[in-house]
Amino acid sequence: GQEPSLDRDCTTLSRHVLQQLQSFGPDAQDLSALMNRIALAAKLISRRLSRSGLVEGVLGFTGEVNVQGESVKRIDAYANEVFISVFKQSGLVCRLASEEMEKPYYIPENCPIGRYTLLYDPIDGSSNIDSNLNVGSIFSIRQQEGIDEDGSAQDLLQSGRKQLAAGYVLYGPSTMLVYSIGKGVHSFTLDPSLGEFILSSENIQLPDCGSIYSVNEGNFWQWDESLRDYIRYVHRHEGYTARYGGALVGDFHRILFEGGVFLYPGSVKQPEGKLRLLYETAPLAFLAEQAGGRASTGVEEILDVVADHLHQRTPVIIGSKDNVELVESFIQER
Ligand code: AHG
Ligand code: MN
Ligand code: MN
Ligand code: MN
Repeated sequence: GQEPSLDRDCTTLSRHVLQQLQSFGPDAQDLSALMNRIALAAKLISRRLSRSGLVEGVLGFTGEVNVQGESVKRIDAYANEVFISVFKQSGLVCRLASEEMEKPYYIPENCPIGRYTLLYDPIDGSSNIDSNLNVGSIFSIRQQEGIDEDGSAQDLLQSGRKQLAAGYVLYGPSTMLVYSIGKGVHSFTLDPSLGEFILSSENIQLPDCGSIYSVNEGNFWQWDESLRDYIRYVHRHEGYTARYGGALVGDFHRILFEGGVFLYPGSVKQPEGKLRLLYETAPLAFLAEQAGGRASTGVEEILDVVADHLHQRTPVIIGSKDNVELVESFIQER
């Protein structure tokens, strides 16, 4: 087919960030460089994933259990280290908080100290790895506030509206990076022949409503009756289709492009649900709102939730406005 325009091939992620900020001041340059570092991490992880099964360090478990109580997969540990190593000498961040680390990682004094904190889920959906299905990485960037002497990272517990930027990488048939710095949602596709993420969609808008609902119905009997009523409703009404990939990034990405709703509700055993606020639901909520959609816990906007600890979980209903409101109407009816 027609070779894409040279100009399009030159719209790399770092250039796009500078354009978005319409300034070339130190903030813009730092954020552009920061996004470039995230792209480097994504390329390193994508390369390792493409060799899964052929090289050590992707499949299987490390034998460790993380702060979430989850068995750590080799790829979780590898990807976590990738983010630390690409940011350690960058002079951009001074602290990294991850799903895989109980306490944040502080950039040691002998490294250049940055002005930002990176919160990330290095591999999301790691249960998909051994069956070669899609996984992702999720990231959130906040301004570093204070020096956090005791390592309690209290300043990170502020609402998701304090995020400067958020996004994810989807390691699928192609590797895509989707981000927002508060000026719309934009997607980039990794061109392996260039080793660059090239702009693929700008100002992505969620359809106001969609036919997809995405939830693990295996938990049906764990849910509140009001939520079961919602599921019964979509079962009875024509026009709904169920899609669930077991990996938040891929399930959200489908909703972002096709519309609909993803839910991970609370249950009897886990009233707060499974997904973690600071590096899973808040970054995606940032994107959902930027794309004209919504993200709710069922009783409040995800972006308004103030965490009381670093690894706090929240129930999540995220996607097209109308679909989120329909779910809420069942929950709030009680
Ligand atoms: P992670 O691999 O980062 O621990 O996240 C897994 C999460 C999320 O990706 C997905 O939506 C959810 O777990 C699936 O949970 P269930 O298997 O309980 O449906
Ligand atoms: Mn995990
Ligand atoms: Mn995850
Ligand atoms: Mn993870």
